[in-house]
This record gives sequence, structure tokens and C-alpha cells, in this order.
Amino acid sequence: MIPTRRSFLQTGAAIAASAAPTAANDRIQVAMIGCGARAHELMTAIGKHPGAEIVGVVDAYKGRVERAVERTGGQTKVFANYHDVLADKSIDAVVVATPDHWHRQIILDAVRAGKDVYSEKPLTYTAAQGREIIEAARSTGRMVQVGSQGVSSATQRKAKEMIKAGKIGKVTLIRAAYNRNTASGAWIYPIPPDASPKTVNWDMFLGPAPKRAFSLERFFRWRCFEDYSGGIATDLFVHLATTIHFLMDAKVPSSAMAMGQLYRWKENRDVPDTINGVLEYPEGFAVNLSSTFNNQLTADGSFQILGTEGSLRIGFGGLTLVPEHVTEDNRWIVESWPKALEEAYYKDPKVQQTEIAAAKRPRPKPEEFRDTGPEATVPHFGYFFESIKTRKPYYEDAAVGHHAAAVAHMVNKSAKEKRAVEWDFAKDDIKKG
Ligand SMILES: NC(=O)c1ccc[n+]([C@@H]2O[C@H](COP(=O)([O-])OP(=O)(O)OC[C@H]3O[C@@H](n4cnc5c(N)ncnc54)[C@H](O)[C@@H]3O)[C@@H](O)[C@H]2O)c1
Repeated sequence: MIPTRRSFLQTGAAIAASAAPTAANDRIQVAMIGCGARAHELMTAIGKHPGAEIVGVVDAYKGRVERAVERTGGQTKVFANYHDVLADKSIDAVVVATPDHWHRQIILDAVRAGKDVYSEKPLTYTAAQGREIIEAARSTGRMVQVGSQGVSSATQRKAKEMIKAGKIGKVTLIRAAYNRNTASGAWIYPIPPDASPKTVNWDMFLGPAPKRAFSLERFFRWRCFEDYSGGIATDLFVHLATTIHFLMDAKVPSSAMAMGQLYRWKENRDVPDTINGVLEYPEGFAVNLSSTFNNQLTADGSFQILGTEGSLRIGFGGLTLVPEHVTEDNRWIVESWPKALEEAYYKDPKVQQTEIAAAKRPRPKPEEFRDTGPEATVPHFGYFFESIKTRKPYYEDAAVGHHAAAVAHMVNKSAKEKRAVEWDFAKDDIKKG
């Protein structure tokens, strides 16, 4: 029997999607739901995989549809809405790159229509949506992969390998920050001059969000408004949380405390521009998360993993391992003792072997790792396409996406309610109260 394209995919017939070119009809047929700024980056990354092909696009702004068709070689089919995409039996997988308030509904509809799903982060708009999505993926047997692509980078894989090998010892604290000092960094993006009720489908954008009057600011700068986004936490902390969970083999924090304020970008937004959060993990470490839309000092010192034997500094282009030269030095203490006791202290063979020997040991050198691999989204899609063929989910599945987004929702809830928020491990949701 000649296998159909779908049975070919389901039997998991070998080769990774990124391998040598396949016959056109063996390619994974992908449609883009939402063709905004991120989706255009995703289309470029997908274009690097000869085993997949973008065959359909849909968006709520005409200009982005035009550009998406152009970017994908002019042959892509334009759909009127995402339901039509899901009804098209020739489409294997969809990429959900809409604003966050839409993710849940589109993912649920997509897996129920038999599509595998690559969803942009954050997987959810509220923590309670996580279980629903996980259950729908499980019961339909569909792949749901989430788009915090950093875990597919050579840098983060190297960091995980170093931590696993015990190179920084026991980790007790991680400091992770995301700061930026531009209007664009604060999500005040330019609005295309042809945008109007004629070119923008406002109802398509609103979907499950509260009904409001047409607003180009809300449409193009939706991260500034909590009807569509959780602001800093869901936009930025979710990436940090995904990385932390990946590196530490951790699932979700047991508790979070946070504070958030709007200090600087006060016009037209209802989410904070500065947040500090503290997380505690049952795996035995804590995390400080912070973000402000202001000066960031240095880009490279913003992700630090602190262990008993050293620390790791993770940046976009690589990482630095700074081994600790642990030297106990009790001079200032024993100098206050009676002289005879001080002298006896230093004659003690135990002190000779520890303090005296450590002071003589050469200082270990930092190790640098430069990431020369492709931008992480490219291998991230490679893993997605591979999992479509093998039917084995990649690391960043719905559960991992749910728990990373949960960090953001815990932080926002704590900041809003000015109290500690706990995770209910039995319900896999934020504890009520
Ligand atoms: N992984 C990353 O590094 C990364 C980077 C940026 C954005 N993102 C995520 O990607 C998603 C999109 O962000 P963006 O910056 O591209 O936003 P955007 O506003 O540029 O794009 C969103 C697009 O979705 C369209 N849209 C809205 N409702 C729709 C619907 N019902 N059907 C079809 N299209 C619809 C809008 O018209 C818009 O063009 C967000 O979830 C965001 O968090 C991820």
C-alpha cells in the first residue's frame, strides 16, 4: 500500500524534517494562524526546513497577509478565518502566532480538528487554561509544542550539560532579568499608516476578549493591555521560566511573591513597566525575576545561576562559567583570640589542609562558550517537525508550556493581590485563596 502523506507522518517514517529535500507532497503542510511580527520570523525559520512547507495564512490585518504571501513565495493560500484553515484536510500542522488571549481557543479547536500545533508562548492567558490544553492534546493524540525557542539553542543545552556535570555544584539561587530602554522595547510599536477599519478586522482580533470600541493602539500594541496579555510576566518572564525549568529539571514553583508598578511608560497601558518577583522551587532553589523598561546596564549579566562551586552567566550569544575559588579565611576571627590559641589554630593539620592549602591553590579559569549555531527558532522547528513524524513530543510540550506560563500568572496574581501565591500540585493550577 502506498502510504498517504498523513499515514507517512503517523508511522514516523524516519528522516528529520530538516534533512535533504523531500518530494513536494511528502512535505509537512503548515498554515500560519496570525501573521504578525513574530510569525514573519517564524516563517523565515520554517523556510530553512525543506521537509515543511507553508501552504496557508490567515491574519486580522490585510497588510500582514499580503506580506506573508510575498514572504512565502506567492503561492500560499489566504484563508478568511482560522476555522477555514482547520477545515482544510490537506493541512497537517498550524502555527498559532496570534495575541495571547486567543491561544487557548485556537489550540483547542486545532487539536480537535486533527492538527499538530506549534503555539507561540505564553501557552495560556490564565493558569486554569493549562490543564484543558494538556488534556485536549492527550485525548486527540496531537503534538502541541510551545515557542520559547531558547531551550533549543546550543547555549542553553551547553548550560544544562554543565549544571548536570556538577560544574557549578549545588544551585541555590538564579537571578534572571529582562530590561530594555526603548519605546519599542516597551511595546510602543509603529502603527502601519494604512491601518483602518477597512484593513483591520477588529472582531477577529477581539475574539474571546471583552468587547471594546475599535482601537489601533490596542490592535497593534496589545501587550500594553491586560485584556490580551499579561504584560512583562507573560511576554518576558515566560522565556526565563522555560529556561530555568529546562536547566534545573524543575516543574513549577511552589510559591511566588511579586510587586509591579507603572513608573515610566504611563500613557495607554494598564500593565506594569517594572516587576520584581521571587519564586521558590520544591527542587530546592529560589529565583529572582526582574524587569524594567529603563537602562539595562549590561546585557550579559542578566541571567546568573549561582552554585556552590561557581556560577553560570547566560547571554544570547553564549555563556561564561565562572568557577569559584572557595577559600575559607578565618584570619579576622582568630586574630581576635588569645595569641597562643591563634597560633595553635594554624598548626592544626585540619586547618593546614583546608584554609592554608586552599589559599595556595591556583585560581580556576573561567570557561567561555560562544554560540555559533543557527538562531534557536530554526532548530526549535526542527524538533517540532521531527515530533510530527515520530509522534513523540519534544521537551517543550503543552505541560512544559503550561508551567512556564504559570510562573507569569503567579507573578501577576501576587503583584495584583499583594500577597504570596502558591501552586496547587494536585490541581496543577494556582491555589485558590
Ligand atoms: N518566541 C518569541 O521570541 C516571541 C517573540 C515575539 C512574539 N512572540 C509571541 O508571538 C505571538 C504574536 O506576537 P507578535 O509580536 O507577532 O504580535 P503581532 O500583533 O505583531 O501579531 C499578531 C497577529 O495576530 C493577528 N490576529 C489577531 N487575532 C487573530 C485571529 N483570530 N486570527 C488570525 N490572526 C489574528 C493580528 O492581526 C496580528 O497580525 C504572541 O503570543 C507573542 O507572545 C514570541
